[in-house]
Amino acid sequence: DCPASVRKQLGKLFAEALKQTVPTEPDIVPLIDACIAKDGVKHADYQCNNAMSLFAKIKGKQEEFKSPRSLGEGIMKNLPPSEMIESCSVAGPGFVNIVLSKKWIAQRLQKMLTDGIDSWAPRLPIKRVLVDFSSPNIAKEMHVGHLRSTIIGDTLSRMLEFCQPECLIRRNHIGDWGTQFGMLIQYLFETYPNPDDVNESDIGDLQAFYKASKSKFDKDDDFKLNAQQSVVKLQGGDPKYRKAWEQICNISRTEFKKVYQRLGIRLEEMPESFYNELIPPTLEKLDQLGLIEDSDGARVIFVDGVDIPLIVVKRDGGYNYFSTDLAALWYRLNIEKVDWNIYVTDFGQSQHFDMLFKAFKRAGWLPEDKNEYPICTHIGFGLVLGVDGKRLRSSCGDTIRLVDLLNEAKEQSKTALLKRVLCHLGNAKEWSKEEIEKASEAIGYGAVKYADLKNNKTTNYTFSFEQMLNDKGNTAVYLMYAHARICSIIRKSGKDIEELKKTGTMVLDHENERTLALHLLQFTEVFVEACSNLLPNVLCEYLYNLAEIFTKKFYSNCQVVGSPEETSRLLLCEATLVVMRHCFYLLGIEPVDKL
Ligand code: ARG
Repeated sequence: DCPASVRKQLGKLFAEALKQTVPTEPDIVPLIDACIAKDGVKHADYQCNNAMSLFAKIKGKQEEFKSPRSLGEGIMKNLPPSEMIESCSVAGPGFVNIVLSKKWIAQRLQKMLTDGIDSWAPRLPIKRVLVDFSSPNIAKEMHVGHLRSTIIGDTLSRMLEFCQPECLIRRNHIGDWGTQFGMLIQYLFETYPNPDDVNESDIGDLQAFYKASKSKFDKDDDFKLNAQQSVVKLQGGDPKYRKAWEQICNISRTEFKKVYQRLGIRLEEMPESFYNELIPPTLEKLDQLGLIEDSDGARVIFVDGVDIPLIVVKRDGGYNYFSTDLAALWYRLNIEKVDWNIYVTDFGQSQHFDMLFKAFKRAGWLPEDKNEYPICTHIGFGLVLGVDGKRLRSSCGDTIRLVDLLNEAKEQSKTALLKRVLCHLGNAKEWSKEEIEKASEAIGYGAVKYADLKNNKTTNYTFSFEQMLNDKGNTAVYLMYAHARICSIIRKSGKDIEELKKTGTMVLDHENERTLALHLLQFTEVFVEACSNLLPNVLCEYLYNLAEIFTKKFYSNCQVVGSPEETSRLLLCEATLVVMRHCFYLLGIEPVDKL
């Protein structure tokens, strides 16, 4: 249920009207849409579209309705009286147009200001959600693919969290159990014959360490053999190997944490190694169900519609990425009792997850989807491209390190900010050193996140600092300007907003005030669309439109400070601020109060 959604509320009124008008069809679902402006003009706020299809159904059965239009008129007459609605009319072939009461809109906004934005949270029919995101691999640097997963996964988690599920798990499925460890451990032993001498900071640059050991692995057959034996010893639990493994993992973890801290990301780690012991019993169960077959010395599972089988035990008896995911999904469904399990990775892994879910279906382990949400969802996203249209790489052709990328984002936004503060505003004194640092980070990281999120996640996207740090167009910087402007209006008024919330009244007499207020009130229904379909870009678009309406319609036509409508308009500014900040929060962006 979602009382804050205008659409839902109108839906209830129309459900009533439809039942009255056509008693023989009691289960008609009301079709309500927000009206879209044509050539800048909107004839109403919402419309009900049922008359046309319903007429085809009842044709000849109810004499009084000769056309869809007359049916539309009938529906309109039967609408129960409501303070929401200012006026109704029937248009075209039978649309019922609704104009909302501006008094009602104002009251709803004022109520939100008193009760807080959480009073606008929808309830989704889900209880326990898990979002598997970021999930980088130990000893390999986090790369831009992981950055996308981290940004998208974090936002999806924030969005789902707003719906207050019983629990939300932000899961970091870190790759800490691959065969690369044999090589790394062997290399570690050879570089530091006495493992107690190893200082984690000595091998701080794990990427270089990885490269060096890999090149030895490829060239030196003795080393290769030793490395393969190391894996066996590690997986067999040999304490010396375990310890070396832990050392290597810790170095990576420290690096990952730095990135998460800078981006404000919370994650709960449950690495691949955690599931190691669960793999044999999981496979055992699948075997009993007759799913596992021998193939060329390996153990495999076939699933519907895919020619190649899934390898679950390799020829050498070892497990792989897939075996781990089988055990992990089993654990999530049966121990953690997750009812919506969302994986965020690039498109390259679509088949992996498709096969995983199909294997579970074959085993009868994926219960029929209970509600409108599937139990398992894989969110795939496209590649990050450089301005040259190719996969984003560093200037020397390596994968870009995330730390370098974030440093660059901060530096570039700082340069632009300093230029603005010193040249345009001439108010350098107003900015302390710390403020400059903080703002450059907020803008730089916000820009990186927003540039990613505003795209439909299925498309590849081009990473360009120049574009994302532009203060015009659909960028985080533009949005932050709008935010800072509202803050500045409120500051300049010198009024105590908390006091105004209690004593003031919002009146929406100016057309542009009403447009802004209605857009604010539509937050919940847009959010529901974004959240149910896991589409952060829908939320970005809403936020961008909000900034546009505020700046181009309200701000340029409605004077706030010093006008007779000051109190009301300050309340509207405050409502805009609350909704805007909440959108920023959901997108993981920290806005700044002055710019
Ligand atoms: N570590 C993997 C990678 O870097 C992503 C893991 C995604 N999650 C999962 N349960 N398979 O590609």
